[in-house]
Amino acid sequence: MKGVVLAGGLGTRLRPLTKVTNKHLLPVYDKPMIYYPIETLVEAGIRDILIVTGGNNSGDFLTLLGNGKQFGLKHLNYTYQEGQGGIADALALAEYFAAGKKICVILGDNILEKSIRPAVEAFREQEKGARILVKEVPDPERFGVAELEGDRVVRIVEKPKSPKSSFAVTGIYLYDNDVFRIVRSLVPSGRGELEITDVNNAYIEAGTLQMDVLDGWWTDAGTFSSLFRANRLVAAGAGDAGEGRA
Ligand code: DAU
Repeated sequence: MKGVVLAGGLGTRLRPLTKVTNKHLLPVYDKPMIYYPIETLVEAGIRDILIVTGGNNSGDFLTLLGNGKQFGLKHLNYTYQEGQGGIADALALAEYFAAGKKICVILGDNILEKSIRPAVEAFREQEKGARILVKEVPDPERFGVAELEGDRVVRIVEKPKSPKSSFAVTGIYLYDNDVFRIVRSLVPSGRGELEITDVNNAYIEAGTLQMDVLDGWWTDAGTFSSLFRANRLVAAGAGDAGEGRA
């Protein structure tokens, strides 16, 4: 299985932090943000990885990551998304790289405590379709929200005002090669983006979307408060309780 890290977009919600650099290069405790999703893929046994970058600072990714030696890789692949056409627009750029194989996609601002290996292994065995990871959160209206019937997802709604469950769809998506056909059929949403939630709903309609509940903590880092939370969670995991406490 191949891996894709989506680190395009313009990170406008983090301005002015993202005025002169890319969101995914900002620090989360002791490492640049993009290290975490790459490490998550590598830990799950995925070694052939594409980084989708964008914005004005895409060259810095190459300076920082090179061929991925610090992750134990021999090579990294890169591509460039123009503008901010949405997560599914960034994903479309991975078609040539995927070369017909299954892919594991992770958003460049998603940070996880634990391994995604169980889901990756389950998807290797899954004949076709897609697999998502969901997590119960206190603020589901910030995310794609999974409406559940038992352990089946019946619909995903992007940032609903009145969420029907507290299960957020995390930014880890496993897809078969049909995903690129689905992306081509999408139309931009109200916010002018090709939505990953529309991709997942297409798999639900086809009856081929499976889900797992993610173990351990999970956070995005795309707003001031979630970036702060990501720093706190990673620091606490490293045993750093912070200085200056009475
Ligand atoms: O974090 C999980 C959530 O991510 C999901 O629950 C939502 O369903 C999904 O839409 C997404 O929501 P956000 O609004 O938080 O996504 P955001 O625009 O912050 O983009 C997340 C990452 O996706 C970003 O760090 C890089 C990548 N991306 C995003 C856009 C808009 C791209 O590569 N290109 C893009 O054009």
